[in-house]
This record gives sequence, C-alpha cells and structure tokens, in this order.
Amino acid sequence: MNNRVWIFDTTLRDGEQSPGCSMTVPEKLRMAGKLVELGVDILEAGFPIASQGDFEAVDAVSREFPWVQVAALARSTRLDVERAGQALQHARRPRIHTFIATSDIHLKHKLRKSRQQVLDDAVAAVELARSYVDDVEFSAEDGARTDPEYLEQISKAVVAAGARTVNIPDTVGYSVPEEYGELIGRIVRVLGDSAVVSVHCHDDLGLAVANSLAAVQAGARQIECTINGIGERSGNCSLEEVVMVMKTRHDKYPFDTGIHTEHLYPASQLLSSIISFGPQPNKAIVGRNAFAHEAGIHQDGYLKEPTTYEIISPKSVGVPESRLVLGKHSGRHALGKRCEELGFTLCRDELDLIYKEITALADNKKGLMDEEIAQIARRCQQQYAEAVEKRELAHSNGD
Ligand code: KIV
Ligand code: ZN
Repeated sequence: MNNRVWIFDTTLRDGEQSPGCSMTVPEKLRMAGKLVELGVDILEAGFPIASQGDFEAVDAVSREFPWVQVAALARSTRLDVERAGQALQHARRPRIHTFIATSDIHLKHKLRKSRQQVLDDAVAAVELARSYVDDVEFSAEDGARTDPEYLEQISKAVVAAGARTVNIPDTVGYSVPEEYGELIGRIVRVLGDSAVVSVHCHDDLGLAVANSLAAVQAGARQIECTINGIGERSGNCSLEEVVMVMKTRHDKYPFDTGIHTEHLYPASQLLSSIISFGPQPNKAIVGRNAFAHEAGIHQDGYLKEPTTYEIISPKSVGVPESRLVLGKHSGRHALGKRCEELGFTLCRDELDLIYKEITALADNKKGLMDEEIAQIARRCQQQYAEAVEKRELAHSNGD
C-alpha cells in the first residue's frame, strides 16, 4: 500500500467555524498563501452556502492559487452543491466536499430521516457534484458513531455514484484509537482501491491526533486537520502535531506527507495574528514553551548536547531557537551562558554571587527578564570587585 498521506487542511473552514476564529476574505487569502507554502495537499477554503464571504473566499483562493486543490463544503442538498460548484468555477483543481449525518442519533433527532432517505440524499448530492467537478469527497458526519454496516453500505453507494474520497469523521471526538482504527480498517477493506479513505477527528477527549494516526495505520490516506488544532469546540486534529509524529517517529508511522515542516511555526504565528488567540504556551511543536527549558538539570543537559532534552530541532519546524528560561529552577550553567550572552565575563565567585541573588529573586517570580539579570550581574560584579579590593588593602596593611 502507498505510504503517502494527503494533508487536507480545513483551517479556513472547520477552524474558522469556531468562536473567535472568523476571518475576512483578505485574511483567508493571506493564510491560504502560508498554507500553500507549507505544502498542504488540499485546501478547504469555505462553506459557500453559509455566507457571501465564504463564497468569495473559495473563489478568491481558487483564482490566487490555481495549482492548488481547493475544496468547498456543501451539505447533501441541491442548493448547497450548486453554490459550491459556482464558487469553484474558476478553480483549476476543484473539489466539492459534500456531507450528511449518518448516525442514528443524528438521523432521529436532527435530520428526522430514515437511513434509506439519507443514503438517497448522499448519492444524489454526489451525482450532482460530479456534474460540476471530477473530484468529489463525501463525508459521513458523525461517522464514528454510525452503525458500521450502514457506514459500509453508504460508503459503497457514494463511491458508485462517483465520490473519490470517503471521509469518516469523528465529529464529536468520542472515539478512541483502537476502536476508530478498527472502523476505518473496515471501510478501507470494503472500498479497496476504489476511493481514498479520509479521517477527520475532533479533539473533545484530546484524542484527535492519536485517532488520526490509528486510522492511517488502518489504511486511511487522507488526514483532515488544522493549524494550531483550531476548530469546532475543542478543535480538530492539529496539523503540526500529526505531521511531526509521522516525521519524528517514522519508525512507528512510516508515512510521508508533502509538508515543508520549517513553515509550521510561521503558519501558526500568522494564524494567531489573524484570529484573536494563539495556542496555549505548552502546545506541542508551536507553543511558546515547546522549546523552552527552565529546570537546571535540563538546561545543563541541553547546553552539553541539545538532544538530551529535545526530540525535534526547533529549526526543523521554523522556531528560530530554543530558549533557556531563567527562573527558580535554573542552574549555574544556563545562568553563566545567559550572562555571557549579555556581555559579562565572570569568574566562578562572581557567578556564585549572581546565582544566589537570582535564585532568591526568582523564588517569588514567574521568570526573569534579561534587564533584571544584567542589573544583578552588574551589581554583583561591583560588589565582588570592592570585596577583592578591600581584602588586598587589608593584606597590604598587614591585617
Ligand atoms: O466534523 C465534521 O463532521 C465535519 C464534516 C462537515 C466533515 O466537519
Ligand atoms: Zn469537523
């Protein structure tokens, strides 16, 4: 089986759908430029029926980046599919992504339709989408909570109707890796080479990345994900995390993507500047602390050899450099290095004095600024010089 995994980015659609994340058309275009640089395979630019802005965003992204595969979302209804088709009319590589819920819970309470009605709607939507574009993706919303037999039946039917990709979302982030992998494996076996099986995992239980990886191991070859993991509720599978797991642990996940990982951090930074928030500081790969070391033992190890405490080099994901944070847990090694960087040449006794002061101060603070360190270093150096002078004077006076 081919080991290339397609990265379907939905930052501009599912990501944008979450609170505080809406983007204007120019903002989507700017972000799209970064995603193209990053090397995503498919760029979902919006949900054209949802708003005029979304329609225009799909159109604008298609015109600006004609060589990229651009996807537009549509429910499995005539109007939605037509609107998506119109928004994509200038795209050179358009994809219509149509979806309908398939779980009994959604059928009963939300759609109020029978399984047969939903299957008919799905097939009709795929056929209509194929009259606009060759590349059609079908998503079985709430697929992870759908009866597997029905999921197999609808997957086969949409492929027969012309879908090339079948996506099985864990819409509510309920699944766990073993179970999700098993379900995906079942769909992969049923579809064989007739379609690419895709996964789209939400992070309600913090398992979106683990579930996506389990699915890839079971034969899925497209992962739907977002920068910084933004998306409905707790978000989607984080693009930077899932890609870096496959790169860093290639021994366990021998899959390749087209992502240029050195653009991950710049993409995360750009997104944070466009929407109203950034990732949490301890977020893997792109968080402010992802390459920061504060504990003395860690700093000492890192300064001797970075791989003692870093499994990824910051440069490989576009982070300019690791940071040694000076706080109450820091050691002499890192403090000496920082003082050196700040222009101080210190003897052992001077460093001891500074270390004593710094740890006392850091006990009551979250971290120390360079100016504070420089001030203390200056004062301690002066104190030390005065003490030496006094001692020498006393010595020459024969005291
Ligand atoms: O979470 C979901 O099920 C979706 C679909 C529209 C793919 O976002
Ligand atoms: Zn989703």
